[in-house]
Amino acid sequence: MEIYIDGKFYPKDEAKISVFDHGLLYGDGVFEGIRIYHQKVFRLKDHLDRLYRSAKYINLDPGVSVEEMEGIVLESCRRNGLSDGYIRLIVTRGVGTLGLDPKKCPKASIICIVDSLAIYPKEYYERGLVLLTVSTRRNIGSALDPQTKTMNYLNNILAKLEADRSGFEEALMLNAEGYVAEAAADNLFIITKKKLLTPATYLGALPGITRAAVLEIAPEFDLETHETHITLPDVYSAEECFLTGTAAEVIPVVEVDGRKIGDGKPGPLTQRLIERFHRLTREEGVSF
Ligand SMILES: Cc1ncc(COP(=O)(O)O)c(C=O)c1O
Repeated sequence: MEIYIDGKFYPKDEAKISVFDHGLLYGDGVFEGIRIYHQKVFRLKDHLDRLYRSAKYINLDPGVSVEEMEGIVLESCRRNGLSDGYIRLIVTRGVGTLGLDPKKCPKASIICIVDSLAIYPKEYYERGLVLLTVSTRRNIGSALDPQTKTMNYLNNILAKLEADRSGFEEALMLNAEGYVAEAAADNLFIITKKKLLTPATYLGALPGITRAAVLEIAPEFDLETHETHITLPDVYSAEECFLTGTAAEVIPVVEVDGRKIGDGKPGPLTQRLIERFHRLTREEGVSF
């Protein structure tokens, strides 16, 4: 494995950053999780757009153009030779002092790791996930906008810990007003009466790349798509439910807070969307 840090590639054991990096000291940075399928990088441009949008939000200049960043990702893929894998692209505020002042960090640091990743065991895709709505609310936009992908994931981690402590596989997070936002690190969808609904991003959901892909392919299944307000009763009474994310892909949800979704088995449209999404990942992508 060769890991990119600030212009050079290092073997895994030598890939190290400073303890004064503000990414480590303050979670001051942004990142992307990107997927390699069949020797191609899936929706790389969309990931880079979101990375630069998140960087702009925290007023962080990555110091390289989008084209150069694309080159870093593709070169990392070439050097690691994985035909299926996961890319973690990180831009931190860089090395500074112990104070939090970002002005003391003269240059952003860029890190690119290519590795394999499986977040859920295969059987979860076959039998579906069981979710618990947690008491930890999704960050409010006026504090830390959940529409951006910053290195500060404690909100999500607290949610995950809460679900885990109660023996649940995944957390469902509400926003401060009580509307459904998303899972700990995945977007949520429900299907009801030929409508495919997902929380609008301004209600606390990350504009997921997998979410966008699913919204694109849904009309092929006669599903009318809506990015909207979703309440817990909407979820409980849905015919089908699933999560989406780069690492998780599309994964069925069969139970939420003790309520069976539909007949408690992965839904038929969810299964067709999973197959269609896999086909999309075979067809699309930037070769390296
Ligand atoms: C908080 C959060 N929501 C949703 C997602 C899913 O987004 P994507 O499909 O772009 O991976 C992620 C993962 O990136 C995430 O961290």
